[in-house]
Amino acid sequence: MSILKNKLYEKIQGWRPRTTKLLKEHGSVKIGDVTIAQAIGGIRGVKCLTTDISYLDPFEGIRFRGYTIPETLEKLPKVPGFEMPLVEGFYYLLLTGDIPTDEDVKAVAEEFNKRKIVPQYVFDVLKAMPEDAHPMTMFSAAILTLQKESEFVKAYNAGMGKMDYWDPTYEDALNLLAKLPQIAAFIYRYKYKGGDIIDPDPNLDMGGNFAHMMGIDKPYDDVARMYFILHSDHESGNVSAHTGHLVASALSDIYYSISAMLNGLAGPLHGLANQEVLRWIQGVRDKMGGEIPTEEQMKKFVWDTLNSGQVIPGYGHAVLRKTDPRYQAQREFCLKHLPDDNLFKYVDILYKVVPDILVEQGKAKNPWPNVDAQSGVIQWYYGLKEYDFYTVLFGIGRALGITANIIWDRALGYPIERPKSLTTTMLEDIAAKSE
Ligand SMILES: CC(C)(COP(=O)(O)OP(=O)(O)OC[C@H]1O[C@@H](n2cnc3c(N)ncnc32)[C@H](O)[C@@H]1OP(=O)(O)O)[C@@H](O)C(=O)NCCC(=O)NCCS
Repeated sequence: MSILKNKLYEKIQGWRPRTTKLLKEHGSVKIGDVTIAQAIGGIRGVKCLTTDISYLDPFEGIRFRGYTIPETLEKLPKVPGFEMPLVEGFYYLLLTGDIPTDEDVKAVAEEFNKRKIVPQYVFDVLKAMPEDAHPMTMFSAAILTLQKESEFVKAYNAGMGKMDYWDPTYEDALNLLAKLPQIAAFIYRYKYKGGDIIDPDPNLDMGGNFAHMMGIDKPYDDVARMYFILHSDHESGNVSAHTGHLVASALSDIYYSISAMLNGLAGPLHGLANQEVLRWIQGVRDKMGGEIPTEEQMKKFVWDTLNSGQVIPGYGHAVLRKTDPRYQAQREFCLKHLPDDNLFKYVDILYKVVPDILVEQGKAKNPWPNVDAQSGVIQWYYGLKEYDFYTVLFGIGRALGITANIIWDRALGYPIERPKSLTTTMLEDIAAKSE
């Protein structure tokens, strides 16, 4: 058994009695009530999911396994001379809850390395897709194509016991994660660079190899590491994470689950917002003839967008009630590496004017920027100007968190999901009785 799998096995053994005890001895204890507004309004804030991979505090932001973003970036092992941690070590943290040693990280990197060959049929399927297929559609389809490789399906069909479900799920997760950077880079180079594909370099880590296959110079390898880590997990109620968890709860394998979660991530209210931010900013830039707008001019553009019934992309959040620390981390990167960049200046002016305007408008519960407000600017700066591709980067990162969640869902025996729905008449009856 590999170092990571062995460690994970020990953690699972230690954790299982906690879940069993909660269910057996405290299963009927209430953790909240559900209102009519929540039943109609997207189940907002209903506490009905469990995950230990990350926790999102409305005012503090995300913690991965108990560590804030600055702590995560500081504590995890790095390639000497680089600022951002190795994604391999971050995955070790997500799965086990422990900060890995350099040796542990090396072992995870070797695990990924031996699983990273992408079968030719995946590339053939991608090449057969329509020229104007969205990169997210291609990414999701490529992953679905790989489904026939599932170790979980083989073991399930062979009669594996429930306590062992996590094991082939872990195998599927590592097999898939190891291939995602190459599949994504292939989509990019095939679609936007005339099919000039760059082969992977077996000596590089996940972030470094991705930058290499994308054909983008340093420090894009650090940008890739930062992106994958920051976008990995945001507890389990957001659309992509919840979709992954829900699909997997039917014992559908990792390939089905990750393909499905990407389809949710592809929506403009979720992962596509980073693309929308760039599209919106460029609309402003065109109107300004390339000049940087004053705050007053920017305010007018923001109000025009709101008055035409659209949302301001990159602002607001269903849970957060402050500036997203993922936005902050990227902003700090921008201040260090691209302080004079034109687009960064636009984003900076937006940060100064949008929150007050959203407060004045009085609709959004959170007027502050989220992760998507900043991320496109960094990609653009390093030459990745095809913004349709941005959500694919988000998807690679999100797959880290969701696969970790699914492995643990299986380890702790979480059942198939099945919330209960009511009719409108039933809600009206409940409302009438409460008066
Ligand atoms: C993220 C988002 C989907 C959360 O939605 P939510 O939980 O329903 O947010 P709220 O409860 O604050 O929404 C209340 C109202 O404010 C509006 N609102 C929220 N964020 C807004 C924004 N950035 N610009 C304009 N209006 C916004 C909502 O559309 C809603 O309007 P409605 O009552 O007319 O339907 C929402 O903030 C949004 O659409 N943001 C822009 C897209 C984006 O950045 N997505 C990436 C999220 S990581």
